[in-house]
Amino acid sequence: MKALILSGGKGTRLRPLTYTGAKQLVPVANKPILWYGIEGIVAAGITDIGIIISPETGGEVRSRTGDGDRFGAKITYILQEEPAGLAHAVKVARSFLEDSPFVMYLGDNLIENDLRPFLESFKQKHLDSLILLRQVPNPSAFGVAIADKSGRVLQLIEKPKEPPSNLALVGVYFFDRSIHQAIDEILPSARGELEITDAIQHLINTEKMVESRTLEGWWLDTGKKDDLLSANQIVLDNQIRPLMLGTSDDRSQVIGRVQVGKGTTIINSSIRGPVVIGENCYLKNCFIGPYSSIGNNVNIVEAELEHSVVLEGATIDNIQQRIVDSLVGRRAVLGTSPKRPKAVRFMVGDDCQIELV
Ligand code: DAU
Repeated sequence: MKALILSGGKGTRLRPLTYTGAKQLVPVANKPILWYGIEGIVAAGITDIGIIISPETGGEVRSRTGDGDRFGAKITYILQEEPAGLAHAVKVARSFLEDSPFVMYLGDNLIENDLRPFLESFKQKHLDSLILLRQVPNPSAFGVAIADKSGRVLQLIEKPKEPPSNLALVGVYFFDRSIHQAIDEILPSARGELEITDAIQHLINTEKMVESRTLEGWWLDTGKKDDLLSANQIVLDNQIRPLMLGTSDDRSQVIGRVQVGKGTTIINSSIRGPVVIGENCYLKNCFIGPYSSIGNNVNIVEAELEHSVVLEGATIDNIQQRIVDSLVGRRAVLGTSPKRPKAVRFMVGDDCQIELV
C-alpha cells in the first residue's frame, strides 16, 4: 500500500497568504496542515509516500517537509507541471504508484478520524475504491455523492449547482490499480481539469466496486480564513498539552493549556489557553486569549488578541482594540503610534481584508 498526497495546485482561496507560500504549509496550531495528513497516513502503517508538488511552491514544501525521516516514512516528491486536476496528478504519479493500491490524500484537508478502519475495509472487501463522505451544509462547494444504504456509491458530481444530497466527498480516497484505466478513459471537465470524481464515476459505470463510509468526526477543508480559524480551534482543543520551554516573569499569568516554545520571553502578560506560541517570540504587556496560535519569531507588545492565527515573523505593536478572528500573515506589521491614533495608515497587499469592527 502506498500513499499519494496532493500538495500542488494554485491555492487561490487563501490569498494573500498563498501568494508567497503553499496553502498546504499554512500552519494549524503551529504545524503545517500537510504534516497532519502525513502523520495520519504513517499511523495507518503506510510509509511509502509520494507528494505531488507544483513548480511554484514545490521547493518550499520539499525543504520544510524533508525526505520523511522525521515522520518515519520515505517521501518521494513528484512534480506536476500544471494544476490540471486531481486525476491528472494521479497520472503524473503513475511511475511512483506502479500497480500498488494507494490512499490519495488532499494536502489541504484535515480529518479527525483514524484511517485504519477505512483501510481495513478497503482491503478486506477487495474494493476498487473506497471514498469518504461527510454531511455538509454547503454541498455545492464540493464533490457530492449519492450512495445507497449499504454505502455503495451510485453517483458522483463535482460541485453541482443543485446538489442531489448533502454528502460531500472528503479529500481522502482509497484506490486499487483499476483507477488508472478509468483516468485514461475520461476527458477534461468544463473547468478544464481531469476530475477524480469523473474517474470514480467511470469505475461505477463499468460495474467496479465503489463504496463509501460516512465520517462522524470533524473534517476541515482549510481553504478559507474561517475554515482555518476553526481548524485551529479544534486542533488546539484536542491536541494541546501545557508545555513551557520559554520564560515568563512573575508579573505574567499563564493559565490553562498553553504551549510555549524555547527562546520565547513573556513579560507582564496574560496568556489564557488553549494557546500555542512558537520559538523566539517576544510578548510584553499583552493578553493572548483562547484559540490563538502564534508562530516563531513573533513580537507582540501592548496588544490583546484572541481566536486568531499569527504567522512567523509578524509584529503587533500597540493596537488599542482587541484583535479577534484574525489571520496575520508572515512578517506582517500591525501597529499604531503610542499616542491615541486619530487616523489609520495602511500598506495593504492585494486581496487583503481589513475590518474595523
Ligand atoms: O476538499 C474536498 C474536495 O476537494 C472534494 O469535495 C472535491 O470533490 C475535490 O475535487 C476537491 O475540491 P477542491 O476544489 O477543494 O480541490 P483543490 O483544487 O483545492 O485541490 C485539492 C488539493 O489538491 C490541494 O491541496 C491542491 C492539490 N492539487 C489540486 C489540483 C487541481 C494538486 O496537487 N494538483 C491539481 O492539479
